[in-house]
Amino acid sequence: MSYFECRDGVTHAEQVALPAIADAVGTPVYVYSAAAFRDAARAYRQALAAVPRKHLAFAVKANPNLAVLDVLAAEGYGADIVSGGELAQALVAGMPAADILFSGVGKTDAELVAALDRGVGQFNLELEEEGRVLGALGVARRQVAPAVLRINPAVDADTHAKITTGTSASKFGVPIADAPAIYARLAKVDGLRLRGVAVHIGSQITDLSRLEAAYRRIGRLVAELRHDGHPITHVDLGGGLGIAYRPEDTPASPAEYGAMVARVTQGWDVTLQFEPGRALAGAAGVLLTRVLWVKPGDGHPHVVVDAAMNDLARPALYDAWHLFTAVVPTGGRMIANVVGPVCESGDTFATMRSIDCVRRGDLAVFHTAGAYGASMASTYNGRPLVPEVLVDGARFAVVADRGSAEAMLARQHRPARFGPVDGLSRAA
Ligand code: LLP
Repeated sequence: MSYFECRDGVTHAEQVALPAIADAVGTPVYVYSAAAFRDAARAYRQALAAVPRKHLAFAVKANPNLAVLDVLAAEGYGADIVSGGELAQALVAGMPAADILFSGVGKTDAELVAALDRGVGQFNLELEEEGRVLGALGVARRQVAPAVLRINPAVDADTHAKITTGTSASKFGVPIADAPAIYARLAKVDGLRLRGVAVHIGSQITDLSRLEAAYRRIGRLVAELRHDGHPITHVDLGGGLGIAYRPEDTPASPAEYGAMVARVTQGWDVTLQFEPGRALAGAAGVLLTRVLWVKPGDGHPHVVVDAAMNDLARPALYDAWHLFTAVVPTGGRMIANVVGPVCESGDTFATMRSIDCVRRGDLAVFHTAGAYGASMASTYNGRPLVPEVLVDGARFAVVADRGSAEAMLARQHRPARFGPVDGLSRAA
């Protein structure tokens, strides 16, 4: 079920009519449903009920808003993080350090140290050298870092090329054929305690056979590693489960995913770790926007809205399709291009699409924008960062402020002079 539905002619988020949010906060604004997050979190956990030992870690990159992380922490989720910034976000949200998995293909030494100091539960190593550096940092701190080795299983996830991560040409993980030798060498590194492997082949995966193929390869590798004498206690199966963006989409459900996982991993005798992002957050948010102009075009009008590619980058980056509806639909339809104000033709949300009839001043929403929406926003074209609102039942709260021109200017400095050693000195 969707928590963003039209009732009495007006689109609501749970019990809150979207025009009330637009009046209070302005547009564009992301609107999240706490109940939608909770439902998705519970459905995902329930889908894995047959997995005896598991750890669920929300991929913070999908939606790092603290209020959202609070909701997921209360549902027993830890965090999958990829940077020092996400480490701070997860810790402030109250996720125990022990429940944090540190992924990421290019962790800096400073980030590794920060994670060691905070007692992060697991480091997902991307290459052999990272394990050696982490081990040395651990030895220097009289610590032993729990780690798994990320495997590149050479499986194409059959998703958008920019979000596929498990093919042999991609930058992620170590090639599965090299894994036993690398694992054996890293198992001897002081300051490091290797305890298993990780895999993540991409995002918005709708065909389970790709995930299953990757997991089966991982299962064979686990057997081989055990045969070599390594104690394997943890396997991180990553995230990647896709969701429906178009009304006609029928992606594999969490329940189908869970059944596949239970079948494929039967007898592995490990703690399975999961890193869902989109599957928890995607359907829990919309981007509320206002129509600025309906501009006559060559063949079709351009509906110019006040949200742009800097607020929701997915269409421009991945040709992503987000349902666009009027907040107060009149029943009429029109064929139009839906575009933002940014000075690039790439700032296009929909091309020659049949949409609800809209006019200047109308409110509208882009649906399924709770994952990789606000987290990918920028200030391009001097546009302030988009605010975020969380709805819970009949109440709502601003959980991220709108940026401002002042804030954008405040972090920039004109050089008072160029220092001889320091490079630029800051303006007074
Ligand atoms: N684990 C790792 C190691 C990841 O790299 C990712 C996502 C996840 C988990 C979560 O994947 P999910 O369950 O959300 O599919 N910005 C793109 C998606 C990029 C995904 C990056 N990695 C988009 O808007 O489609």
